[in-house]
Amino acid sequence: MDEKYSLAKRILEKYNQLHVLKGYNLLSEKSKEKLLDQILKLDFETVKSIYDNKDSIGVIDRNIIQPIDVIDKEEIDEEIKNECIKIGENIIYNNQYAVVIMAGGQGTRLGHNGPKGTYMLDITPAKSIFEILIDRFKEAKEKYGVVIPCYIMTSRDNYDATLEFFEQHEYFDYPSNAIKFFNQEELPMLDSDGKIILEELDLIKEGANGNGGVFGSLYRNGILDEMNNAGISWIFISGVDNILANIIDPLFLGLTINANCPIASKSIKKRAPEEKAGVFCIKNGKKVIVNYNEISDEMSRKKDEKGNLLYGDINIVSHLFSIDSLYQIINEKLPYHADYKKCNYINSLGTKVIATEPNAFKFETYIFDSFEFFEDMLIYRVKREDEFAPIKNAQGEDSPHTAKELYLKRRCF
Ligand code: UTP
Repeated sequence: MDEKYSLAKRILEKYNQLHVLKGYNLLSEKSKEKLLDQILKLDFETVKSIYDNKDSIGVIDRNIIQPIDVIDKEEIDEEIKNECIKIGENIIYNNQYAVVIMAGGQGTRLGHNGPKGTYMLDITPAKSIFEILIDRFKEAKEKYGVVIPCYIMTSRDNYDATLEFFEQHEYFDYPSNAIKFFNQEELPMLDSDGKIILEELDLIKEGANGNGGVFGSLYRNGILDEMNNAGISWIFISGVDNILANIIDPLFLGLTINANCPIASKSIKKRAPEEKAGVFCIKNGKKVIVNYNEISDEMSRKKDEKGNLLYGDINIVSHLFSIDSLYQIINEKLPYHADYKKCNYINSLGTKVIATEPNAFKFETYIFDSFEFFEDMLIYRVKREDEFAPIKNAQGEDSPHTAKELYLKRRCF
């Protein structure tokens, strides 16, 4: 223990984080050990470099951005459509398809007590977001006679509650061995001076590392190899909070394979220039998504000769990756983005403080930053009312109320 303590202290001194040990002498032996273990497992060098570089992230030279071409579902020739559906269905019939649902977010805007997927929608019969998503797998099982594996990414904070929810609901009558859970990784949160935040005297506050953490977590939890060994060749990755997400879509799969693209993503048309969503575009010759605030107001209002917005396709977190592309991504480094968030903490007097204002940097990678690693990708535009009913906010736009209306229109006849 003494050795562990000395080592931890030396590391903290080196990175100017000695305050982490301020309550050490007040802790039980068990808590001391817990804190030391956490310190020793952290990669301080990475944390320091992310913090030092946080201001250089997100600055885009707008001259390097250009409009992008997409394939619009409405404009695909019937013959090609049928051919592609066949190609996609073959992948499904041959058990080569899997889905990953990213459910590790904090869902702060929704403010629901529990994992976002456990939010109950006020429909008849009442259904949780998770059940609505699992319905898609059950429909596919019925249609193709295939049990498509579903991998759910959770965070340390919501893993237990998520698992318990599925057990309580008996996996919504889908084979339980086809639904697997894995935790995403975390990074310490830092205050505005770059100091590590303590959640408890014996616990450094760590936050999930963003939805871009999905790649490393799939790999380090052995899931990528498991999929590969099972012969899975295409993986659809979706956010948890779009209750109309069309996660098993043979046409999308077939179009991507037909175009010989290793990755693909679905888009929808922007409602208005000011809609706050990631925008598809070409940057440095590569097809990418940039954040809405990285495109100037002037650019977001620009139209083509037909009157359509030039930067009018937005991200709905519905992405498709070949297994090889996932192996490629884990060898690359995604950039970190810094978000300034509210975070409760232990102050210098050892008292717990409830944050009322943003006070802490949370560092995240974004799944769509991986697009830049590829020479080409397919962008497939679908109709908003068919495939996008997000639940982000408690009220107003993109809330349970709006999502329910969209869902009822589309899914219940
Ligand atoms: P959002 O960016 O909407 O974040 O995530 P959020 O955490 O759900 O909600 P707010 O911003 O706190 O209100 C988009 C998708 O990425 C997942 C989310 O669960 C959601 O499906 N996500 C996000 C993760 O799985 N892990 C993360 O670290 C962040």
